[in-house]
Amino acid sequence: MEVPLNAETSRRSLLRSIGVAGGAGVLYSTMGAMGLAPVPTAEAAPYKPPSQSDFTLTGRGRKKVVVLGAGIAGLAAAYELGKAGYDCRILEAKNRPGGRNWTARGGTSETDLDGRTQRGRFSEGQYMNCGPGRLPQSHVTLDYCRELGVELEAFVNANADAYIYHDAAPALAGKPMRWRTAKADVYGYISELLAKATDQGALDAALSQADKDRLISFLQSFGAIKGKADGFKYTGSSRRGYSVEPGAAHERGTVLGPVPSLSDVLASGVGQRFSFEFGYDQAMMMFQPVGGMDAIPKALERAVGRHRITYEAWATGVANVPGGVEVSWKDRSGRERVERADFCVVATPPHIAARLRHNLGANVTSALKTPTPLAVGKIGLEYRRRWWEADDHMYGGVVPTDLDLATLWFPSTGYQGRRGTVIGYYHFGAQAETYGKLTPEERTKRAVDQGVKIFGERYRKELDTSFSVAWHRTPGFEGGWVGWPNQDGPEYKLLNEPQGNVYFSGDWLSHTIAWQHGAFTSARKVVTEIHQRVMAA
Ligand code: ALA
Repeated sequence: MEVPLNAETSRRSLLRSIGVAGGAGVLYSTMGAMGLAPVPTAEAAPYKPPSQSDFTLTGRGRKKVVVLGAGIAGLAAAYELGKAGYDCRILEAKNRPGGRNWTARGGTSETDLDGRTQRGRFSEGQYMNCGPGRLPQSHVTLDYCRELGVELEAFVNANADAYIYHDAAPALAGKPMRWRTAKADVYGYISELLAKATDQGALDAALSQADKDRLISFLQSFGAIKGKADGFKYTGSSRRGYSVEPGAAHERGTVLGPVPSLSDVLASGVGQRFSFEFGYDQAMMMFQPVGGMDAIPKALERAVGRHRITYEAWATGVANVPGGVEVSWKDRSGRERVERADFCVVATPPHIAARLRHNLGANVTSALKTPTPLAVGKIGLEYRRRWWEADDHMYGGVVPTDLDLATLWFPSTGYQGRRGTVIGYYHFGAQAETYGKLTPEERTKRAVDQGVKIFGERYRKELDTSFSVAWHRTPGFEGGWVGWPNQDGPEYKLLNEPQGNVYFSGDWLSHTIAWQHGAFTSARKVVTEIHQRVMAA
């Protein structure tokens, strides 16, 4: 059918035809040229993987690279270098790929630095992500998932029906409150105050009459407050939730009440929780791989080639030698071995790398010791029944508390199933130190005793099994992640530069520490540098 041609339709059909012929990239850049560009998308540093043709076209020989550590940085470095045919070998201390990207299941076994062995007894299909658990939309991790065929599902980082629990606050203490209720009350009262202040002229120096009118109309919508005639009062609304759900015929529902006073709402401190979801990397949508975060390292392991990775290989030394590097390591029987290569990528945590015998200079050792490892703990609690869904109508989400548990996570998968695994604590610093000192059994008991305060006895009675990780007491890591005193300092700069033929890589060498994005982008940087050097030689 012939479409009547006017400026709008012809512009649309032009865009459509370019989109069909050239793909979305062409469509977007054309839209930009026509002044229709959507909000700009932040991109990670531009990256072009090395390719086979770089070698065939220039007649150069492929180089050998030894990578220390099969965490995300090490795997990504070997994967990217492998695209051009570099001969990579990864030495990994654990018996699995992924590093801190580690998913515990039934049968998982780990012995900590205190000699305590835990064995995962989770049921079939149940798991806990001991390390990373959530992926923001902007991170290259999602691009790798696409490239590697890792299936994703939503991670519920914010849920209006999840709770906030403040035990020690002067008001509402010991009463869990849903996020939606907390938001209704905080937004409501803040809107009431600001509307009154505006109406009474307190902001006249800053606002014109038109601005004041607009501000008040915004506050009425934002806070669901009454009009001027009623003093802009906040008196609660269905945004708080219901105690009786609306239903058929004459059931209008009963709005949850009573509304606490302004003073109690302020004293409860619930409003201080809201900024969590404003964070650039914590805002919804967020994602997780289906079946466990370790789907990412498993896919990388397949892509790199299993034969290129030696597990239970503890690196003991690295040295620049004429023409390349020499890496020493201990195999699983404790035998010292030596591997020669053109380059080495050290992709372990910095404080672990600091213990390598090396000839890179004392300033490298001291730089590696500069960032401070942070204690981080998590516990997975498998329940026989998904009571949070069946009883509380809470399907996934994060529950912040002021208990030593810090935050609890409810599962973003397996909805309506029989069993489910809750993250019973996820904490850092002093709280993680405290729990890390306990035996696994004591940790479970303490975590459950605390959780009972929020959820009642079912939190204890319906528990089947648990598994906990104290990253700072886990061999090979000795910390959840690290903090630099200063990322503009000489130490950070030094380790971001090659030391002879030795390169360092990891999230700790990025501005996205404690995210896989940091490890991936750091690996890309090192791969680019190695490849440029090889091509320039
Ligand atoms: N990336 C870590 C988290 O999301 C720190 O909790």
